Amino acid sequence: MAESAELILDGKSYTLPVVEGTEHEKAFDIGKLRDQTGYVTLDSGYKNTGATKSAITFLDGEEGILRYRGYPIEQLAEKSSFLEVAYLLIYGALPTQEQLENFSHQITKHTLVHEDVRKIFDGFPSAAHPMAILSSLICSLTAFYPESVSPDLSKEEIDLNVIRLMAKMPTIAAWTYKNNMGHPLNYPRNDLDFCSNFLYMMFSFPTEKYDIDPRIVSALNKLLILHADHEQNCSTSTVRLVGSANASLYGSVSAGINALWGPLHGGANQEVLEMLQAIQADGGDTSKFIAKAKDKNDSFRLMGFGHRVYKNFDPRAKIIKKAADEVLAALGIDDPLLKIAQELEQAALTDQYFVERKLYPNVDFYSGIIYRAIGIPTEMFTVMFALGRLPGWIAQWKEMRENKEPIGRPRQIYTGELERDYVSIENRK
Ligand code: MLT
Repeated sequence: MAESAELILDGKSYTLPVVEGTEHEKAFDIGKLRDQTGYVTLDSGYKNTGATKSAITFLDGEEGILRYRGYPIEQLAEKSSFLEVAYLLIYGALPTQEQLENFSHQITKHTLVHEDVRKIFDGFPSAAHPMAILSSLICSLTAFYPESVSPDLSKEEIDLNVIRLMAKMPTIAAWTYKNNMGHPLNYPRNDLDFCSNFLYMMFSFPTEKYDIDPRIVSALNKLLILHADHEQNCSTSTVRLVGSANASLYGSVSAGINALWGPLHGGANQEVLEMLQAIQADGGDTSKFIAKAKDKNDSFRLMGFGHRVYKNFDPRAKIIKKAADEVLAALGIDDPLLKIAQELEQAALTDQYFVERKLYPNVDFYSGIIYRAIGIPTEMFTVMFALGRLPGWIAQWKEMRENKEPIGRPRQIYTGELERDYVSIENRK
């Protein structure tokens, strides 16, 4: 007999069916609760609420498990490439050699953006934050490809929008950096792979050849893989909610970019670097800042520690920490910020204050160190997160569309004024 829960309300019994996933996660299906009882549930921040069923990513916060389509993140980070992981997330299976070559070729063919996109760049102040430009220009793709707004796109038309977005986002992201620096824009090259092309567009100069270092290409692939999806996080839930209104892929991802920009979400990696730089500027005494973090009267908080879902450790942080050590050693970089980061990490892993509060390094803590080592400026860190998360956003939007999910429309509990009559302005006091 199917499992269920019984709700006793005002002396009446209601049955709530239990839904169980392939990893034996369980949920009460409350889809008919309000119709049957007049009650809704209340769960600020949705900490206990499943918004959907999804076959894309599984994570176990207690065990520190993260798998994309069943494949452990540790194996993908070690053995795969970002484009192969993107294909896996979006289409549900690891590609054959032919499928991967075709996917990569299609993306290469679409890396150019319309010349009118450059005109939009000219309208931004040079000091504009790259995330503001990125979200605007990704949404602008809806203007350049107006057919993308149709809710009745064929599979082929959706695939074309997917390819366009995967192809053009790196170009636009690199151009936000060049625009920020006042440098000439670099056009994508068809002879380079995805990560090499991005690095070329970011760091090449007309007057100075940029040597693409395979060790940096490898580190970038790993970083993007580690950020590629993370089930129903804030930005992904934003993409699904906006997409549930039959908004275009470009408009939905643009909304996700803005959600990711928040310092409590993807903006945290920029906050971590700025925190490390502040500690360095203050003399580098990490024990002073650890004491400040523990002082409830002090507003200072350690950024890049703890996680909403992972209760013991963020599996991505372990991989990124190893990669940070490897990249800095390979490039012969002795970054004082890494030493400060390692001292903070040591404290977080040994000091009972942090251990009891599960405040251990998360994915944002070390990613900034690597980005910095490969020459990416702090303001571009969240853009890098967005670039990595793109295939996840696409996969989740596609799954929501394919499953014909209803428009997202949560309820509320009203706590405002009771009914009252309008008062003309002369009679207000
Ligand atoms: C993410 O990867 O999106 C972040 O860890 C945040 C989250 O999952 O809630």
